[in-house]
Amino acid sequence: MFSLRGKTFLVTGASSGIGQQIAISISNHGGRVIAAGRDMNRIQETLSLLEGEGHSYHLFDLSDYKDITEFISKSEKFDGVVFNAGVIDYTPVKFINEAKMFKVFDVNFKGSVFLSQQLIKNKLINKMGSLVFISSISSKLGVPGTALYASSKAALTAYAKVVASELANQKIRANSISPGIIVTPMTEKAAEAVTDSSVKEAEKDYPLGYGTPLDVAGLVIYLLSDASRWMTGSDLILDGGLTLK
Ligand SMILES: NC(=O)c1ccc[n+]([C@@H]2O[C@H](COP(=O)([O-])OP(=O)(O)OC[C@H]3O[C@@H](n4cnc5c(N)ncnc54)[C@H](OP(=O)(O)O)[C@@H]3O)[C@@H](O)[C@H]2O)c1
Repeated sequence: MFSLRGKTFLVTGASSGIGQQIAISISNHGGRVIAAGRDMNRIQETLSLLEGEGHSYHLFDLSDYKDITEFISKSEKFDGVVFNAGVIDYTPVKFINEAKMFKVFDVNFKGSVFLSQQLIKNKLINKMGSLVFISSISSKLGVPGTALYASSKAALTAYAKVVASELANQKIRANSISPGIIVTPMTEKAAEAVTDSSVKEAEKDYPLGYGTPLDVAGLVIYLLSDASRWMTGSDLILDGGLTLK
């Protein structure tokens, strides 16, 4: 039920953190991975960690529409796509400006929207395919400084639901995952701006502690596999119990 054998998956942001682990886990379950990112060294590192044969990569900037259409023009067909690439941002509301908004939305929202739109329009998703959008629990909270990041992820979650609705007649599914804090290069960089003790203190809000990329990858494997064949249009909260209270 959970096997991905004989299937091909595109993973964006596969060069780091959660995306890298998703790529590894897909390969562990027999799937073939097309790893997408921007950084050649990091994407090569991901490829070196994959199990099995036949994996490959594509380098493109998701915030650049031309890069996306160029990728699409030579793309093969996929059984699933994980829209994982994203950037974090901490800008208090009074410091928001147009440039900052574009920087965040261009990757977190626009990039995933146009990549999925182009894949769908060009019939590059196989029947019974699965699209997984990595959103964030931030979209449901009101953490100060996260206005742009949280809004971009809320938009992505809403988009995923509409995609699910429009593609159901083709038996293509779309779901999103809203993770809480996962320890990755993204969060490690963000933690540099605060003290170690405040990072440890904040972890107390998580009954199961902070998550790991493997925790997200497990749910992604479920969503990509036939085990979730009746699930579409869902947004799955994966937060170690943060929102229990
Ligand atoms: N970590 C968390 O606590 C957490 C929680 C909830 C949701 N998320 C979401 O999970 C996803 C992965 O996060 P992470 O923590 O694994 O972050 P990460 O380690 O910083 O990795 C981000 C990935 O996104 C790619 N990326 C960034 N900008 C891009 C662009 N313009 N074009 C193409 N690729 C781009 C990066 O590629 P390069 O290596 O080429 O730069 C990298 O592979 C993000 O969408 C994030 O918002 C993370």
